[in-house]
Amino acid sequence: MYALVAEPTERILGYSLGELIDAEGELQQELFAQARWVRQQYQMDQVHLRGVIEISNFCQKNCNYCAMRAANQKLDRYRLSAAEILDIAAQIHRLGIGTLFLQAGQDPECDAILQEVIPTAKRQFGLHILLCLGEYPRASYERWRALGADSYILKFETSEPAGYRQIAYTSLTRRLQCIRWLQELGFQVGTGNIVGLPGQTLDTLVRDVLLTQEIQPDFASASPFIANENTPFSEHKSGSLRRTLNIMAIFRMLLPQALIPTVSALEKLEPGGQLAGLNAGANVITINFTPPQCRTKYVIYSQRRFVVSLDHARTIIQQAGMTVRPVAI
Ligand code: 5AD
Repeated sequence: MYALVAEPTERILGYSLGELIDAEGELQQELFAQARWVRQQYQMDQVHLRGVIEISNFCQKNCNYCAMRAANQKLDRYRLSAAEILDIAAQIHRLGIGTLFLQAGQDPECDAILQEVIPTAKRQFGLHILLCLGEYPRASYERWRALGADSYILKFETSEPAGYRQIAYTSLTRRLQCIRWLQELGFQVGTGNIVGLPGQTLDTLVRDVLLTQEIQPDFASASPFIANENTPFSEHKSGSLRRTLNIMAIFRMLLPQALIPTVSALEKLEPGGQLAGLNAGANVITINFTPPQCRTKYVIYSQRRFVVSLDHARTIIQQAGMTVRPVAI
């Protein structure tokens, strides 16, 4: 009665992807229940914790949804030093969190810092090193991999090439090429979309799901668009929580073994949003370890974004009836 992996990819539980992305009421509850069932069958029920440090808010890109875009001159820019990052990495390790997640705007100046941080964090603390730094030449990815980086997140954001160019001013093909390189180099790779970007249709979201399935990432994420101050999209309405949760559940059905984060933007949209993400099939929570004076400057979602603490993570994991994945030391 349960189809573990949907086949053919166009229909799940007898419904089209479009119907499921828009599901509400009973159908939505059935979708979530199936996603949880699949998660349990594949023993993906323990929640992975990641400790993120946002190491720089400089960015070369100009994405219309993001206030760290290069053109935003109102933003006070910062870049952490290797020593600052390693201090925080030690704290992450002491708390029993197994993954050090280094995130930044697309800032090539981070390279020298990473040369020191990646091997040291790996050697001293045995942390899994996850990077989210943007688009780089293959040689940069190769170097970071050789230094000991394990995984990399590069979201395609939207699967529509013309839409991508209008929003990010660069080519989707190049971004997908970067994802391919990362996979070839042996990184575990995360990708996914933003739900509710201006100009996006239900059909775009269906194609986002299909593209994700084609990429076969190790981590898959859907996050709602959050209208952000000091951006061209500041007056647009934010994305739909319902559609985002539905896409997360669909990701779980199509990629049963994937790590799927329940992102802080869900909580920002609606209190309880991150718990709803766990109930829709997610199994990753990222805890924020960026120094407080920098956090307010890392304006990916908004100046008033929801900052996830370890306590908040533990509470919602318990509420979801899940447990934290212990770290092998
Ligand atoms: N709304 C939703 N997602 C966003 N991201 C950045 N800004 C926003 C926003 N305003 C997401 C993008 C990016 C990741 C780091 O954060 O998907 O890849």
